[in-house]
Amino acid sequence: MHVLEALGVALLGFIHSVSAHGYLKSVEVNGVSYLAWQVGQDDYLTPEPARYVRRIHDNGPVPDFTSKDITCNVGGNIPAKGVVPVNAGDKVKLKWDQWGSSHSGPVMNYLADCAGSCANFKGDTGTPWVKFDQMAYDTTKTPPWGSDFLAKQGASWTVTIPNIKPGEYILRHEILGLHVAGTRMGAQFYPACVQIKVGGSGTKSLPAGVGLPGAYNPDDKDGVLVQLWQVNQGQTNYTAPGGPVRTI
Ligand SMILES: *[C@@H]1O[C@H](CO)[C@@H](O)[C@H](O)[C@H]1NC(C)=O
Repeated sequence: MHVLEALGVALLGFIHSVSAHGYLKSVEVNGVSYLAWQVGQDDYLTPEPARYVRRIHDNGPVPDFTSKDITCNVGGNIPAKGVVPVNAGDKVKLKWDQWGSSHSGPVMNYLADCAGSCANFKGDTGTPWVKFDQMAYDTTKTPPWGSDFLAKQGASWTVTIPNIKPGEYILRHEILGLHVAGTRMGAQFYPACVQIKVGGSGTKSLPAGVGLPGAYNPDDKDGVLVQLWQVNQGQTNYTAPGGPVRTI
């Protein structure tokens, strides 16, 4: 292969991966923007920049969603330096760099109580993850898939912080792309762990949650090992993994 050809192929591959995948780029609360780990940039900065979302390796999906990489994506689940200040009832806008419409699937949002500082919390054992917001496949909406809806909203998603007691939590925001999920382990999970500090006078504790890893079963034919087209054509009902949305 000639050098120019090789360059062209590499460039095409790059363009393809950029157009196909995405990552959570920033978080906005009460008009203030907080940066996530910037893929392709922050790895090269010294000292490590203060970010509010745990570092991730790249903009692709988690290769093994049964491993501890599913908790906070591939990147070591290293505590971020920053914590986003929020109050119960605040709206948190989660902004992706971009999201491709071919990657249809649910958008899921979880909370875990760091039980103190998130600097000492990984959330990769036990069942700390409480799903509090989700859009899976809803035929009353246009478009019906959560991720397509997110794309339509300019690659962003907004959640409202429930009336939970003050303290530090991880807001785990995730897209699941189902375009190749019909192949075992083909489901593409894109999680992001935002560190938040909840103020205010909320009183509620989180209910029991699910384990991540643990809750995503490669053989789950309702939510993980699914043919996207069969759902789109009404041949199969879809139920997102991770259990139902919990009322907090
Ligand atoms: C999907 O669920 C609805 C409501 O429960 C039911 O009427 C329908 O038969 C189901 N469709 C399939 C393909 O299982």
